Amino acid sequence: MIDLAIFGAGRIGHVHALNAAAHSRVRVKYIVDPLPGARDALAAQTGAEVVDADRAFADSAVAGVVIASSTDTHADFLLRAAQAGKAVFCEKPVSLDFQTVQQVAAAVEAAGTPCLMGFQRRYDPDFRMVRDRIAGGEAGRLEHVVMHTRDPSPPPRAYVERSGGMFIDQAIHDFDMARYLLGEEIATVYAVGRCLIDPEIGAAGDIDTAMITLTSVSGRLVQMVNCRRAPFGYDQRLEAICANEVLYVENRPRHGVTFADAQGFHHAPPLNYFMERFAAAYRDEMAAFVDLIETGTQPLAGMRDGLEAQRLAEAATASMRTGQAVRMEVAA
Ligand SMILES: NC(=O)c1ccc[n+]([C@@H]2O[C@H](COP(=O)([O-])OP(=O)(O)OC[C@H]3O[C@@H](n4cnc5c(N)ncnc54)[C@H](O)[C@@H]3O)[C@@H](O)[C@H]2O)c1
Repeated sequence: MIDLAIFGAGRIGHVHALNAAAHSRVRVKYIVDPLPGARDALAAQTGAEVVDADRAFADSAVAGVVIASSTDTHADFLLRAAQAGKAVFCEKPVSLDFQTVQQVAAAVEAAGTPCLMGFQRRYDPDFRMVRDRIAGGEAGRLEHVVMHTRDPSPPPRAYVERSGGMFIDQAIHDFDMARYLLGEEIATVYAVGRCLIDPEIGAAGDIDTAMITLTSVSGRLVQMVNCRRAPFGYDQRLEAICANEVLYVENRPRHGVTFADAQGFHHAPPLNYFMERFAAAYRDEMAAFVDLIETGTQPLAGMRDGLEAQRLAEAATASMRTGQAVRMEVAA
């Protein structure tokens, strides 16, 4: 059995702890979270002990740590995990400060720490099939990608103020997906963003609606649409236009029954938000973390992917502020 420690018993920590506990070769040994309540219920549910971070890092039986705590704790926990020789499954983003992200990535890579970054869309069966058909050659050369990410409703102002902004908090998954599908780096980033939905988000210095255009090093195109509201629920779609095929990832409905009456045909709304929509992806992500620890199998997303996606989010922020496209240094 592999012993894991879960840091953070909030929304995503809950998902990862339950997936770890359900894995046949994992024991959730520790839950680390300073806030009583949810953490104690989660510990009872998973058979884990509540301890502080020092105790979890000091236990040589703990092979891996899952960092699902608040963003401002990730960098420190990553460094401590690297020092303690633990494998890491870290939620995005590594830090809100890009210089810190670079320093942590360098330290983690230098230590040879096995690391999985929490870009769960890479593990979603639909997104993965798109990538596999492109990488396998059936779809033909990928020419351009269009992605839509809209949350069901705007987050509260308090969340926005600590989120690092919509590009780092939300669109980072799309930046990562662009790199994943293209299989190459991004050369230019051009972003426009506005606060069109919730004035509270604007008052917090953020935007709630954005359109971002990327070009890849070889000249292929990506259009991202990111927004904090979709009146029907979570909107998570993608079109990959390739030489032989156009691949569509559609929203997943909550059920497959269509009711027809005199007013028309009524379909189920999509699965609500990321915890439902990506439930299978989170399970596969945890299984990949176990594989990484047991066999060294490289995960679909690692530390470098966390760094590069955030580099693009930083570039989008700069582009939005200046009104100019940003040319990435990696472009060759
Ligand atoms: N990949 C994804 O789909 C996804 C989805 C949601 C959140 N996230 C990321 O996961 C992280 C957590 O997000 P959330 O929505 O679960 O937040 P949350 O606020 O629901 O939970 C965060 C938890 O961390 C705990 N915490 C704070 N300081 C801590 C410390 N020093 N040690 C241990 N625990 C501590 C808090 O008490 C809280 O229970 C964020 O970085 C977020 O960006 C990723």
